Amino acid sequence: AGLAVVAKAAGKKYFGSATDNPELTDTSYVAQLSNIKDFNQITPGNSMKWDATEGTRGTFTFTNADTIVALAQKNGQLIRGHTCVWHSQLPSWVSNGGFNTTTLTSVVQSHTTNVVGHFKGKIWDVVNEPFNDDGSWRTSVFYNTLGTSFVAIALQAARAADPAAKLYINDYNIDGTGAKSTAMVNLVKSLKASNTPIDGVGIQAHLIVGQVPSTMQANIAQFTALGVEVAITELDIRMTLPVTDALLAQQKKDYQTVIAACKAVVGCIGVTIWDYTDKYSWVPSVFPGQGAPLPWDANLVKKPAYDGIVAGF
Ligand code: XIL
Repeated sequence: AGLAVVAKAAGKKYFGSATDNPELTDTSYVAQLSNIKDFNQITPGNSMKWDATEGTRGTFTFTNADTIVALAQKNGQLIRGHTCVWHSQLPSWVSNGGFNTTTLTSVVQSHTTNVVGHFKGKIWDVVNEPFNDDGSWRTSVFYNTLGTSFVAIALQAARAADPAAKLYINDYNIDGTGAKSTAMVNLVKSLKASNTPIDGVGIQAHLIVGQVPSTMQANIAQFTALGVEVAITELDIRMTLPVTDALLAQQKKDYQTVIAACKAVVGCIGVTIWDYTDKYSWVPSVFPGQGAPLPWDANLVKKPAYDGIVAGF
């Protein structure tokens, strides 16, 4: 059937994958990425980030992002834009710029306006990872200089740049209920109360085999109850290596659980995996000793997790 086929049959808009420019020279990789039956959505994993698009103040570079958008367009796939305002992969001219409130406001506005304005009609992670795990605001040049207002500044600039774009705030460890999810609920409430544009909450869902939160469906529902969409934006479910049949079987169950939680909530509109093959996962480089988090193995062969996704829908 295909992952996007079963997602759409379940009433979802899309099932998608992240990708990155260096991988696009791998022809068998690109062939599967382009299979619309599995993926009707793509997220550029790096090429729309601040360091990639505005490495120098006021000079915008969209070459790599345009390559991915063109591929998606050729394939008939949607794009999730990722991401405008984030503390990481941020050029030092922003993080060390020593800008005052007025200047940093216009830096954030200019960046968001140019990036969102270049790619019209997309879904956007306008703000990424604003919170610490305890639900407090993350220290960043944005928060330190502008306080919580950086979120509204970015969202307003994005709305003005493209009224048709869907505007999200995205974070990790907001998969189940808890302090960090509560912080996101309170942020969305306050944005809505001040008429700040906000369309969705992105749940990254970088998960661990055997540790999918039991409250995931209830958590998705508490977000959609606020009148916003939810998307699962960066799903992967890693394991401690080496891979065993037992871990693969648990991983299959875990994928099914996550997908079923999204399926059960009408306002959960789509799921994106953070690349589709273990060959190109970010996990081993960031979590030593862990890996194999995706539904295709490093030889581009489907794992049990693939059937778990199908079963979840
Ligand atoms: C990761 C990319 O996949 C890596 O290639 C890069 O080196 C670091 O960033 N949360 C996010 C993503 O929002 O942007 C991150 O992507 C993974 C964690």
